[in-house]
Amino acid sequence: MPGVAQIPGENVRARAFVKKIILLRIRRVERTPDVMERFHMAPMAEITTPALRRAIRRYSHGAVLYSEMLSAGAIAAGSSMNREMSARHDFDDPFVFQIVGAKPAVMAAAAARLAEQGCRAIDINMGCSAPDIMKTGGGAALLADPPRAREIVRACRSAAPCGLTVKMRSGYERTDLPALLDFARMLQDEGVNAITLHGRHAKLGFRRTADWSAVRAVKERLSIPVIGNGDIDAAETAVRRLRESGCDGVMIGRAAVQAPWIFALCDALVGGGHVVRDIDIEAVFVDVLEGIRDFLEEKYHRSRGHRFCFYFCQNVHFSHELFRTIRRESAIDAMIALVRGYFARNPHERVKTVRAGA
Ligand SMILES: Cc1cc2nc3c(=O)[nH]c(=O)nc-3n(C[C@H](O)[C@H](O)[C@H](O)COP(=O)(O)O)c2cc1C
Repeated sequence: MPGVAQIPGENVRARAFVKKIILLRIRRVERTPDVMERFHMAPMAEITTPALRRAIRRYSHGAVLYSEMLSAGAIAAGSSMNREMSARHDFDDPFVFQIVGAKPAVMAAAAARLAEQGCRAIDINMGCSAPDIMKTGGGAALLADPPRAREIVRACRSAAPCGLTVKMRSGYERTDLPALLDFARMLQDEGVNAITLHGRHAKLGFRRTADWSAVRAVKERLSIPVIGNGDIDAAETAVRRLRESGCDGVMIGRAAVQAPWIFALCDALVGGGHVVRDIDIEAVFVDVLEGIRDFLEEKYHRSRGHRFCFYFCQNVHFSHELFRTIRRESAIDAMIALVRGYFARNPHERVKTVRAGA
């Protein structure tokens, strides 16, 4: 560090100390936990709050839940700002922490810290295409920098005594299948336990439809589990994608915000059964908003409340009108009052019957 005098031998001693801790941690772990389950809730910034995770867990014991994307720099520095975002709750099992960053040592330090809380895996974000993340070299920018991606995986692998997964897109500027397969094999060789592939390259954002043939190709060539992701809009689609692509699991994002019960439908369908359920839309709406209020500090209420409502309002007929009024509010209790008012005016919309299977 500039201006700080280095004590001779300090670096060597520090490195030996870190190495010793890592070796002790590795020895403590008898086996890497099984990271695989069939259905995964996609990590989503400002959306996968403890409140939404709790709602999903009420419908499915098995769905793998993910934290919001956590800045490795902030976690490694022990920033108090991230305490609530990185807290793990009793319903968070199976659970994965997702980290984002571009510096191997910082990513490793964050992975080690988070792993101490107990989790199925640490997931490295190699898929985020937001310009502010990519310009730091993190997220999907790592797809264009395989040597750095390898260093990050290697560092995290030695630091985190739990599963290690990578969530990635099918490419940076285009989907180049041979390059994608090389990249995925590199991850596997470095000890990653599973890969989630969103079948769009980073420059596409959310345009066009997800390319599930890329998921299938990666699955066919890797021995580790592959989780497919992109445009799953219903339980039937999830199960069809599983079968057609041969992948080991599917990850659901936007559709699970609108329908946190989708995992219950998936569980029933994949077991060959069918399910019909009455969902109290108002109760789920209020439950998640109250969770945002109770689990998170007030400064997060507006962003998290609005993000959730944007998707969940799609369950009601006058969704635009309801969301437009909610967007004017910053306090969760005011959003709840609008939701209650909506269902008082439209009681026939309170309960929705959902079904999957024959
Ligand atoms: C609002 C929003 C935020 C997202 N944030 C993240 C994130 O923090 N980390 C990540 O890996 N992917 C993130 N994604 C991408 C999703 O995890 C997922 O890959 C994508 O939405 C495609 O899945 P879907 O079609 O089922 O929604 C985000 C997506 C959305 C819509």
